[in-house]
Amino acid sequence: MAIKLSNRTKLIKPSPTLSLSAKANQLKEAGKDVISFGVGEPDFNTPEYIKNAAHKALDANFTRYTPNAGIMDLRKVIAAKLLRENGLEYAPKDILVSPGAKNSILNILIAVCDTNDQVLIPTPYWVSYPYQTLLANAQPVYIETRMEDAFKLQPADLEKAILESPCAKVLMMNSPSNPTGSVYNREELAALAEICVKHDILVISDEIYERLVYDDAKHISIASISEEMKARTVIVNGVSKVYAMTGWRLGFAAGPAHIIAAAGRVQEHATSCVNSITQKACVVAYNEEDDSIEKMRQEFWKRRDRLYDLLNEIPHVTCFKPQGAFYIMPNIQWYLDNNNAGITNADEFCTLLLEKYYVALVAGGSFGMEGTVRFSYANSIQNIEEGVRRFAMLLKEISS
Ligand SMILES: Cc1ncc(COP(=O)(O)O)c(C=O)c1O
Repeated sequence: MAIKLSNRTKLIKPSPTLSLSAKANQLKEAGKDVISFGVGEPDFNTPEYIKNAAHKALDANFTRYTPNAGIMDLRKVIAAKLLRENGLEYAPKDILVSPGAKNSILNILIAVCDTNDQVLIPTPYWVSYPYQTLLANAQPVYIETRMEDAFKLQPADLEKAILESPCAKVLMMNSPSNPTGSVYNREELAALAEICVKHDILVISDEIYERLVYDDAKHISIASISEEMKARTVIVNGVSKVYAMTGWRLGFAAGPAHIIAAAGRVQEHATSCVNSITQKACVVAYNEEDDSIEKMRQEFWKRRDRLYDLLNEIPHVTCFKPQGAFYIMPNIQWYLDNNNAGITNADEFCTLLLEKYYVALVAGGSFGMEGTVRFSYANSIQNIEEGVRRFAMLLKEISS
């Protein structure tokens, strides 16, 4: 008889974005002209100045275990970055370097959650938050946001959810947001912070898209709202998105020392330190920036504009204009309600789009938002134009 799996793992489903890219790759290998808007990673190469630092570290044989929490040089430059860019003072002991922001979040949730503690998750959310909550033996509680509020959590909705959740302990915040691209301003964060302080809620503030903001949007960390809020915030950030370093695997958490120390103990027995070469490369990434980071942001901005304009030309598609990250989430509900192809949900639409027109999109259900699809615009303008052409063609085809 097969060994039974744990109840915990039975709740965990594969990452929809990773399974989508596997399917898209299969089609590519079969010679199909696939355009993928699925995966959340920059299509740029890691900047040369960062790669050079990695070469140097390797040549110097910097290849052994490092301190679990990260080398001191790196924690110092991260502390300097937090002061310079976020106006926040942290000591190296308040910072834990982990193999990716994804792992940082899991370490923190395991460190603070007891069985049945509740984690408040605004929808739409990044796909991993609910599963990470379950892995930490806690329970996700979803709080709906609306397009007319730019998909931002409203203070009244937060307070209501807290009052209705007797074991509410953590609020997940993600600004700029994956998948909506919303960016909270200071006033909005201050209103949410007041409620978190009042009810003693810990905020895990996922700031991984921090530098990718457009128009007049500015990234503000909720920890910078007040000292009381800083004492209840763990900032999570990393190099994957802004520095085009997804494969290097480095993220960090910064927050109250006792939480960071506990998360460090979790990491000590799970993964140990981050790859030593990556750490050395990241000291330079955070310390010696050239213009490549800003050039990538400018390019994302251009793509956001082009994609947003093209989507708005499609009848019955409604679309919120994102101000950050590299995603757009158009609503295609009208086509789900009015089609002759028997398509009832965005999942079925995305499957047909991939199989028929070789365009990979993620259905919004994976982010807790039915009736929508998510485009990642980490793709060339040429591919954006051709991909939207095929997307619009299928919408027209199924509705006529
Ligand atoms: C909102 C959000 N947080 C965290 C991550 C994970 O980042 P990392 O590559 O550092 O693990 C992602 C990656 O898709 C993300 O979109």
